[in-house]
This record gives sequence, C-alpha cells and structure tokens, in this order.
Amino acid sequence: MIAPSILSADFARLGEEIEVVSGTGDARADWVHVDVMDGHFVPNLTIGLPVVESLSRVSRVPLDCHLMIDDPDRWAPDYAERGAYNVTVHAEAAHDPVMLAKNLRAAGAQAGLSVKPGTSLEDHLEVLKHYDTLLVMSVEPGFGGQSFIPEVLDKVRLARRLVDTGHLRLLVEIDGGINDDTIEQAAEAGVDCFVAGSAVYGAEDPGVAIERLRRRVNRCGAHP
Ligand code: DX5
Ligand code: ZN
Repeated sequence: MIAPSILSADFARLGEEIEVVSGTGDARADWVHVDVMDGHFVPNLTIGLPVVESLSRVSRVPLDCHLMIDDPDRWAPDYAERGAYNVTVHAEAAHDPVMLAKNLRAAGAQAGLSVKPGTSLEDHLEVLKHYDTLLVMSVEPGFGGQSFIPEVLDKVRLARRLVDTGHLRLLVEIDGGINDDTIEQAAEAGVDCFVAGSAVYGAEDPGVAIERLRRRVNRCGAHP
C-alpha cells in the first residue's frame, strides 16, 4: 500500500491535491496520510479536526490520520468520529493506549500506534495486541523532506516476525524519508504500507510517482 502524505501538498488546494492521487490502477493511492501536529508534541503546527472533517467528505481514498499531538486520549476519538479511516496516535504521548484503541474502534476507525525512531518496540508489544496498525517513524516526527533512518528497520523486522507467527495482527506502516532510493529496503524488512510525502507531491506527476514506488516494492518481491 502507498499512502501519500499531504504534508508536502499545497495547503491552499488540499481537496484537489487528494484528487490528484485518487486516479486509477497503480497510480491510485491506497490511503491518504494526513499529518496532524499540535506545536507541542512536535515543534510544528499543521491542521486539525475541521480540516480533516472537510477532507473526509470529499476524499475518495480512505484517510490515514497521524496525530502528532499531546493527550491523544482526549482528542483522537474525535478524528475517528469525523470520518478518518485509520487514526494513529503516538506511544510516547498516549496515557492509556489500550483504552484509547478501544475508543478509536468504538468510534468507527482502525486504531494505529506510532513509535518515534528512538522508541523501542519491546515496551509496547502487549499494547500492540489491541491495535490494527503500527506506524514506525523513520525520521523524527515534525517535518517532511528529512533523510530516512535505516536503523528503524530492526523494528519493522521484529513486527513482521510477530505478525507472520500470529503473535500480532496488524499492518506495518513506515513514515519518513521514503522515496525511490529507500523504499526497497523498507519493503524487504516487511513493511505493508509506505507513507511518502515529498517523493509523491514533490514529483512532477504524483500519480506516476506512486506507480514508480509501487513497482519498486513489487520488484523486490518482498512480503506481499
Ligand atoms: C513527518 C510526517 C511524515 C512526512 C513524511 O513528521 O509524519 O508523514 O509527511 O514526509 P517525507 O515523505 O517527505 O519524509
Ligand atoms: Zn506522518
């Protein structure tokens, strides 16, 4: 799966920018990744609930909301209620992640848990049993266009192994620095869903960029 991040899109034309990646065949995004930042959990401020609600009404592709915010226990279920398909919260910010996953699902969304590059997965394995997606950050959250941190692939390999052996049931997603040069190593490590911001929206034709990323994943013949 490919999930273009609209963090690198033109914020004055977000509806059209989503439409650009909602084409057909291999050029169609599987999810559209929406980065919500609160200026506290990360040193950047982007968009919030009203914008997500408006985008969920016009988007033909499911919205994947990545909440880089403090106190997600309080705010995240609202995103599920307003139409997000998958709502990801940060393990470093959640107070009661098991209850939060239950609340997200009760509000109609899939529940995602994200870990920053320096956060170990081992501490969160029990909690992950309650989640539908694991978002492994491959850059420090906050900004698009940063360089991929290959060391996080150990976490992807661990998660992949636990899923393949039936200990976890979730989708493994990676976010940060994914482009034509890095996507194959992530695919080989066992990623299911690739977030790409600048590699898609910085390209002349975002649809062609999605096709190209998809081709690289398929070519390395890694996990389906
Ligand atoms: C970073 C965001 C990412 C970002 C990725 O904090 O979570 O989703 O948009 O951008 P690229 O693909 O340019 O690294
Ligand atoms: Zn993100």
